[in-house]
Amino acid sequence: MSVDRPRPLVAGNWKMNGLRMSAKVLGDIQAGYTPGLKAKVDLLVCPPATLLYTFAHISVGSRIAVGGQDCHAKESGAHTGDISAEMLADAGATYVIVGHSERRQFHGEKDADVCAKAVAAHRAGLTAVVCVGETREEREAGKTLNVVKKQLRGSIPVDSNSQNLVVAYEPVWAIGTGLTPTAADVAEVHGLIREELKRLVGKADHGKVRILYGGSVKPSNAAELMAVENVDGALVGGASLVAADFLAIAGAYLT
Ligand code: 13P
Repeated sequence: MSVDRPRPLVAGNWKMNGLRMSAKVLGDIQAGYTPGLKAKVDLLVCPPATLLYTFAHISVGSRIAVGGQDCHAKESGAHTGDISAEMLADAGATYVIVGHSERRQFHGEKDADVCAKAVAAHRAGLTAVVCVGETREEREAGKTLNVVKKQLRGSIPVDSNSQNLVVAYEPVWAIGTGLTPTAADVAEVHGLIREELKRLVGKADHGKVRILYGGSVKPSNAAELMAVENVDGALVGGASLVAADFLAIAGAYLT
């Protein structure tokens, strides 16, 4: 790994999974986050909002960050069922995922909505994990790079920098399917993202923004995926619910 690569981040997106008893999983992750791992990789756990406050408390002193999975663009108001970035911060979150494909797909979120949410994250002092990625049809039609470029330009706010922005490339067809792109395909998209970041966050900072790969990351493929150029960590779904698997993925950085 070259010296100017960003410090890796392995993030767990628990999606709509986890009850109070799942605090045990977080405890197990903490217990396995050894000094050796701490020296090499940052960890982030994004549980459902109901567990954020508890998880943030459990994590104090452990260097494991806690994040939300979505936020509303507004600070407060008549938005039944929604949660603001300020509320996430108040509960102890320091990150929030925005624009996950499941939000884009099932809640109709467009790039402008994602951008407004990322702005809200920054307003609340959170780091926004902005997700992008193509569908199977888009990949098969050879549109991947254009789709990702458009999503990046539409979703990343102008005040972004390497401290308040993480980009996650998650091909929709790789999420929860066991399928992953080839290392060469991942390298191509991550290279494009790094190049786009030059114009979106500025030439001085673009190399320090962490670009995560997400989509069927498992202990068995983590080392190969994490070794790809411009891959600065992982956004892990299913495997992040099992402490041993999540730690094994982070362990790809020990070698
Ligand atoms: P899986 O790791 O379960 O494929 O999910 C990826 C994802 O959507 C993380 O945000």
